[in-house]
This record gives sequence, structure tokens and C-alpha cells, in this order.
Amino acid sequence: MRPELQRRVQRYGWDYSSPYYEKGWQLQLWPAQKRLLEKANLQKGEKVLDISCGTGLVTFPIAETVGPEGSVTGIDLSEGMIEKAASLADKDSVSNVSFQRMDAEKLDLPDDSFNIAINSLGLMYYPDPDKAIRETYRVVKPKGRAAALVWGRRKECGWTDIFPIVDRRVESDVCPLFFQLGTGETLQKTFRKAGFTDIVSERFDMKLHFDSDEQAVIAAFLGGAVALAYRKFDEQTKEEAHAEYLESIGSYRDETGYDIPGEFVIVSGKKFG
Ligand SMILES: C[S@@+](CC[C@H](N)C(=O)[O-])C[C@H]1O[C@@H](n2cnc3c(N)ncnc32)[C@H](O)[C@@H]1O
Repeated sequence: MRPELQRRVQRYGWDYSSPYYEKGWQLQLWPAQKRLLEKANLQKGEKVLDISCGTGLVTFPIAETVGPEGSVTGIDLSEGMIEKAASLADKDSVSNVSFQRMDAEKLDLPDDSFNIAINSLGLMYYPDPDKAIRETYRVVKPKGRAAALVWGRRKECGWTDIFPIVDRRVESDVCPLFFQLGTGETLQKTFRKAGFTDIVSERFDMKLHFDSDEQAVIAAFLGGAVALAYRKFDEQTKEEAHAEYLESIGSYRDETGYDIPGEFVIVSGKKFG
């Protein structure tokens, strides 16, 4: 897929998924996101950039940790995500966060301006993740840090049939590079190439629990990257795709719902200075 087309699929796809994202994924992703924030070792008063902030699932916990002397800037390609995050900040009167629509590969931010940049589950969706990590390096202060969370290897994630199930019906490849960064040492190498040092990485797995068929279907089809393609399906195609997906995760079902395995990778590094 051409980079410009991939960017559009992402931008408008996540606009559609923004109302469903938290319902589909908030509880399931928190243990991995929490681990990312622990690795980031955030300090009171730090100025943080949250790249691909989505609805703010990690932005708000970061804001609480850095406190009123610190601040968080959340950026995301999707207007829908940014609007949702900004409205949550307004509703809860969180004053040390701000949100802007921006492409992670082209940060409209000055050099050397953040103590730390966080990227929670954003990198898999970019046409050029190397460029985004170079941009991350540029905007972090000398001696500053960056930490990123990505999904791990395809064979260790139980939900991955969602991609071929949707791609077959739209004859495209919604997320061509999705599992590349979480395989082998790809993400560490990307950090190193961008200039980061003191690189630390961790691979871990956890179960993603979905109470019901409905919740699993909402998360997979409406709450994520395939939302734009899925929107164009007629009712019959939707039903067939749901049935195929539920069959693909059927072996993870018991009387409490689904416990789907997921693998994640966290990589962090420091900027020379
Ligand atoms: C799975 S969500 C992660 C949201 C949040 N960080 C979290 O951990 O819940 C992925 C996000 O990446 C954003 N995204 C995709 N491509 C992007 C790009 N090129 N630049 C910035 N954000 C992008 C999407 O809009 C979406 O909000």
C-alpha cells in the first residue's frame, strides 16, 4: 500500500473507531500499558510527549504521575481520537495535558523539547516507523528518553486472523507492517539507527479477556485498525466476517468468555547529551 493511502486509511479508520476504542480495549491493554509506564520511570515535573495518544489511555496516567509542575502533550493522526481525548480532559478538568492532531512521522514540534517521549501501540500503524523514531529522537532533549510498546510476534497473538478476514473482503492489506516491529530485534535496531543509546528491551505475554462474542467483535472490527474497511461491508458480509473471526478465536473460549493470548515488546533508550 502506498504510504499516503496507508496514512489516510489510518487517519479516517481511527476516526471511526474512536467511539469504540475504550470499550473494546481499555481493560485488556492496561496491564501492558502500565508496564510501559513503569519502564519509562516518569518523574514529577517532567515534560512528556505521548505519540499516538489515541483517547488518552496512557496520557492521563502520565499527567497524574508528572503532576502539576509537569505536562503532557498528546499527538495523534486522528481528529476523532484527539477530540475524544480533549473532551475527557475538559470533563475531568485535567489542566496539564494538551492534544494536537499530528503525524508521528512529521512532528510539528521544536528540537530538544521533551524529557521523555512515549509511544504506546502506535508504531505498527505508520508507513515509515524508522522516520517516526528519528522524529522522536529529534524532539527529545539531550539525555532525554523514549519508550515504546508494540505488539509482538504474529504467532504469539491469538487475535490476528482479523487481518486476513477483513483484507480478503476488501482486497487490500490494512496494516502491512503490523508485526514487523515486534519480531526479532527490529524495534531495538530502529531505536539504535535513530541515535538512541542505553537501549533496553523486554518481551512479554499476557491474556486479553473479552466477556462475550459481542465484546470480542466490537474490539476487533470497530475498535481498531480495520474499522474503515469494515464500515463498507454490507450486513451479510459483516455477519460472515464476525462468524469467521469468532471461529478463529474459538479455542480461547471458556465459560467466562475469551482469554486470547497477546505478546508485546517494550523498547526504551536515551538520547546522547
Ligand atoms: C492502538 S491506538 C493506541 C492509542 C493509545 N496510545 C493507547 O495506548 O491506547 C493507535 C493510535 O495510533 C494512531 N496513529 C496511526 N497512525 C498514526 C500516525 N502516522 N501518526 C500519529 N498517530 C497515528 C491512531 O490514530 C490511533 O489513535
